Amino acid sequence: MTSTRSALITGAARRVGAEIARRLHADYDLLLHARASRNEAEAAAARFNARRAGSARLIGGELADEASRAALCAAVGSAPLDLLVLNASRYGRSDLDATPAARNADLRAFLEVNVVASWDLALRLRPLLAAAARANGDAAIVLILDVYAQRPLPGYEAYSISRAAGAMLVQALARALGPAGIRVNGVAPGTVLWAETPERAETADALTSGTALGRIGSPADVAQAVRYLADAHYVTGSVLPVDGGRGTHI
Ligand SMILES: NC(=O)c1ccc[n+]([C@@H]2O[C@H](COP(=O)([O-])OP(=O)(O)OC[C@H]3O[C@@H](n4cnc5c(N)ncnc54)[C@H](OP(=O)(O)O)[C@@H]3O)[C@@H](O)[C@H]2O)c1
Repeated sequence: MTSTRSALITGAARRVGAEIARRLHADYDLLLHARASRNEAEAAAARFNARRAGSARLIGGELADEASRAALCAAVGSAPLDLLVLNASRYGRSDLDATPAARNADLRAFLEVNVVASWDLALRLRPLLAAAARANGDAAIVLILDVYAQRPLPGYEAYSISRAAGAMLVQALARALGPAGIRVNGVAPGTVLWAETPERAETADALTSGTALGRIGSPADVAQAVRYLADAHYVTGSVLPVDGGRGTHI
């Protein structure tokens, strides 16, 4: 690793996570987490390393599994960590007519990836973040959430519940980790990239007409917000909507 600051991005191989990595690479050495998309993450790391030698490496891991999360954090190493971007998430529909056991397992699966894993990584990596804060003034955690942290997306009940819990996680950890110089913020995107599964209930027209700006956003809009929060030294406990004016705030 060559530059002074380092960042770990979960789900960094594709889509929004890949754009966040591209945006941060100018100022950070990158630890790129991937689960299934290891080939894409390896290719991205090679591109970053061609631009600046030793500036990126891949870390694999299943976030739903505690042992895998422990291994992931061990693979980060012991050097100070300036920025943790919790971008990976589980997304999908709920079936309220499934068996009680299936419904409960489904909610637990959303909570495990979207809440417990974020809690676990933030707290396991706290010593490295605190070390960066001591060295450089502060360190930051940015949790990528969703406009549906504030109101439910019909048909996606378990996902929405997990996102609302994520918003409280931002506030609770901001309080808890602030004294160590670790700021914790969230980004709540509206639609910035269509889901790859055709299961989305809302139409493209409904999604765009629901915004004040009349259009969807882009992964670059999320990456820009992450970059801002990484250096917003007096901002903590905030969830920044990046939704073209589609949330409940206007
Ligand atoms: N796309 C949008 O318009 C939109 C809107 C609102 C909020 N968001 C939020 O913005 C973030 C990025 O969006 P996106 O559309 O790029 O996300 P995505 O494609 O649905 O998922 C991003 C990555 O998460 C990783 N992931 C999922 N489950 C995992 C698990 N159990 N263990 C480890 N990794 C796991 C996957 O990595 P691998 O491919 O390596 O398995 C995946 O590539 C997400 O938090 C999403 O909820 C996106």
